Amino acid sequence: MKESFFHPVHIGNVTIPGNLFLAPLAGFTDKAFRSICLDRGASFTYSEMVSAEALARNSEKTRKLMERAENEKLFGIQIFLSNADTAKRAIPELLKADPTVIDINCGCPVPKVTKNGAGSALMKTPDVIKEIIKTIVGETDIPVTVKFRTGWDLNSINYLNFAESAIEGGASLLTMHGRTRSQGYSGEADWESIKNLKSNFDVPVIGSGNIFSAEDAFKMLETTGVDGVLFARGAMGNPFIFERTKNLLIGNESIVTNSMDIKIQTAWEHLSLAVHYKGEQTACREMKKQLCSYTKGEEGSAALRNRIVHAENLEEYRDIFKEYLP
Ligand SMILES: Cc1cc2nc3c(=O)[nH]c(=O)nc-3n(C[C@H](O)[C@H](O)[C@H](O)COP(=O)(O)O)c2cc1C
Repeated sequence: MKESFFHPVHIGNVTIPGNLFLAPLAGFTDKAFRSICLDRGASFTYSEMVSAEALARNSEKTRKLMERAENEKLFGIQIFLSNADTAKRAIPELLKADPTVIDINCGCPVPKVTKNGAGSALMKTPDVIKEIIKTIVGETDIPVTVKFRTGWDLNSINYLNFAESAIEGGASLLTMHGRTRSQGYSGEADWESIKNLKSNFDVPVIGSGNIFSAEDAFKMLETTGVDGVLFARGAMGNPFIFERTKNLLIGNESIVTNSMDIKIQTAWEHLSLAVHYKGEQTACREMKKQLCSYTKGEEGSAALRNRIVHAENLEEYRDIFKEYLP
């Protein structure tokens, strides 16, 4: 009975048609990658994290991070900030981008972000997250959601208390990455805590951490009772994971192939979209790590990655990929 595990998710006044979410991933989830994932079954996508302070100062570069891809009807913008005053000042620019959902980053472990009290440092100040959410909810009907960790470190696990504050502030959905800030991204994610979070609150909960296959996603849904799953590193170079998961959950037997040919053809489509959105020079420079991720684990692919790293323009990429393209 896996069918019941694929279903819509209600976030405040918005209904997301499915529960397979693409994570916000700084440096990865730009318009091109989100578009590729949506075409392959992602139910919902988020921008890369956007500095609310930069938004308040009306930065052009930051505004670009909030643009939608052409196939992106629903779209979450994730912001990072450390206080309600910044939220208030950022809201006018944020609303111009017309997000479906506004998500607050309470999980980023990077010192540049946490030293100012933003990202995972907010785990230490549940009252501040409450004020931030209250401020945004007071200005717009767009649902506000939070993405957080289990705590700052293993000695200060406080996700229940933190979630309670966020909900008191008006949060419509909780996404929890089952690691503390000090764990970064390594080791097993703590799914027991995700299960515990879900059992304590009525708002929808999305689980994050260690979802690297369709089977992992199913296991997370089944064992923790969460409303949806968040694909992060498991989707990098592997947008096929969405369709595979959906097929597994709805009992569709058809096989989603990801032969080397399909992977490279998808990487090429991804690069072409990035060129469309960013122009050739920027796309060819920024896309290297994404393109490399498509071939990770494939036998004999190191030589291919070495060529990708040195490619400078679309023509050189075409030459590298040509034997795999139709
Ligand atoms: C390169 C990278 C960038 C990330 N950027 C963000 C981000 O901008 N905002 C955020 O909330 N989480 C970010 N995360 C965390 C992921 O969304 C996710 O919660 C985490 O990777 C755990 O899932 P996983 O173990 O399945 O990868 C990032 C993770 C990675 C590896």
